[in-house]
Amino acid sequence: MTETTLFRKKLEGKLAIVTGGASGIGEATAHLFAKHGARMVVIADIQEELGHQVAKSIGLNHSTYIRCDVTDEEQVKAMVEWTVKNYGQLDIMFSNAGIFSRSDQTVLNLDLLALDHLFAINVRGMAACVKHAARVMVEGHARGSIVCTASVAANQGSTGYTDYFMSKHAVLGLVRSASKQLGEHGIRVNCVSPSAVATPLTCSILGMDSEQVEKAYEPHASLKGVVPKVGHVADAVLFLASDDSGFVNGHNLVVDGGWVD
Ligand SMILES: NC(=O)c1ccc[n+]([C@@H]2O[C@H](COP(=O)([O-])OP(=O)(O)OC[C@H]3O[C@@H](n4cnc5c(N)ncnc54)[C@H](O)[C@@H]3O)[C@@H](O)[C@H]2O)c1
Repeated sequence: MTETTLFRKKLEGKLAIVTGGASGIGEATAHLFAKHGARMVVIADIQEELGHQVAKSIGLNHSTYIRCDVTDEEQVKAMVEWTVKNYGQLDIMFSNAGIFSRSDQTVLNLDLLALDHLFAINVRGMAACVKHAARVMVEGHARGSIVCTASVAANQGSTGYTDYFMSKHAVLGLVRSASKQLGEHGIRVNCVSPSAVATPLTCSILGMDSEQVEKAYEPHASLKGVVPKVGHVADAVLFLASDDSGFVNGHNLVVDGGWVD
């Protein structure tokens, strides 16, 4: 049997939205969704040029870009409704758009304006995406799957970057609550929690190139001999988005190679 005949498409015919799909983890996941037969992958992001490029590289028959700032609930609502109107029932929402702390802060020097800005994206934006995806899934009687991007920061405290760690704890609260509330509609809500993979976000925070980021975090994985890549996170998202995880709900799938402090 050839490799092609062995390949099983896990999202055949599904309609998916990926927020933050213009870059990093979202970009890799959008490609993987399309490879697994998603009928249409909508890239929702604020980076227009990159967003269009990603959709084009997937193929415009199977992907499209729409500008959407997740901090604006009206834009999120319009983006979700536009998707359903143009492509039919929404099956998958990968709510992934997020940023990192503007600066390293302990609670003693917490910059609350920076915290508001970060929460507007990482928490409020995440909640808006879950809310509006869930609403159209309920209305459309879709047995949908919603996946959010949390982080290993969702499960531990930190000596710095307080606002980011707080925001990812909030994502976990959102996922755990929404999963209990939406289960009766057949909608599953889960999240992935990566440790550190090289993306434009991590490279710019650390002022390093991809290889340097990978080296810097290598000691934090108990698993050796595997370099963590965006593809590892995308694989976990695919599992949660697909029927392979049909009875998994309210779960936080950690992708960290066994984190060591
Ligand atoms: N890279 C990592 O190591 C890592 C680890 C843990 C968690 N995460 C989380 O993964 C997610 C993706 O991060 P990434 O590393 O791929 O970063 P990235 O910067 O490569 O991608 C994030 C995308 O989100 C988009 N975005 C930012 N603000 C937005 C807004 N207001 N509206 C719409 N889109 C917006 C950006 O334009 C960008 O395309 C984030 O939620 C991040 O917190 C990343």
